[in-house]
Amino acid sequence: MPFDASEYGRHIPADVYDDAFAHLDPTSAVERLVELADGGPVCEFGVGTGRLALPLQERGLTVAGVEGSPVMAARLREKPGGERIEVAVGDFAVTRVPGEFALVLLAFNTIFALPDQAAQVACFRNAVAHLRPGGRFVVEAWVPDLAAFRAGAALRPVQVAQDAVMLEAALLHPAEQRMITTKVRLTGTGVDLLPANHRYAWPAELDLMAQLAGMAREHRWEDWAARPFTDGSRDHVSVYRRPMTA
Ligand SMILES: C[S@@+](CC[C@H](N)C(=O)[O-])C[C@H]1O[C@@H](n2cnc3c(N)ncnc32)[C@H](O)[C@@H]1O
Repeated sequence: MPFDASEYGRHIPADVYDDAFAHLDPTSAVERLVELADGGPVCEFGVGTGRLALPLQERGLTVAGVEGSPVMAARLREKPGGERIEVAVGDFAVTRVPGEFALVLLAFNTIFALPDQAAQVACFRNAVAHLRPGGRFVVEAWVPDLAAFRAGAALRPVQVAQDAVMLEAALLHPAEQRMITTKVRLTGTGVDLLPANHRYAWPAELDLMAQLAGMAREHRWEDWAARPFTDGSRDHVSVYRRPMTA
């Protein structure tokens, strides 16, 4: 079946997405991205409902985006400032937003939403096509942790609060580097299911994709606070750079 970039928003309603991830504080991501963009325009691939794009715009940056789900894009447009974010509805592996950007952002593990290696390589090439010379492509993703799985399955708490608990149930298919997940969010008003499929990759494979696209890695941190990436890091923020000259 051909890949459908709008699938995510069909299974996870935009208001459920916003509620489920309202507990994530975007401050350190926004601080780091403002520094990396250095005043230049930003394009966010998989911009969603603007969790990062809106605070970046509030910091004075011009922000555009690519979003596969028309429903997520519509919710972003409804929010204050959302109408000023130009969003192209389409697959960020191939969709082009007019303009030349200082920074392209692909946050929150969304590189893994692409179905296979070829689509992920195409995404790196699409990112570099959006960048001005010296511009940066920033990827935030988890590091595969196969030890967390028993007999190909895992269950882990994602959020534990007084008014909400979120668990993630996952099935692993290592031969295809694929992980099938559903987050289960329990609150006083009911249960929400948030399914997502991942074609996961280790950081080194992402580095090779960057090389194929003509970029080199500038930084790899454990998180947006720029803590060092170590043996124990479970997430990474990787910054790739387009050369100043072609
Ligand atoms: C996990 S959400 C992240 C949203 C936002 N970046 C954030 O940090 O809150 C992933 C978003 O990427 C979109 N998406 C997934 N695959 C896509 C693709 N191939 N092309 C365009 N958008 C895609 C989904 O519709 C969803 O809005």
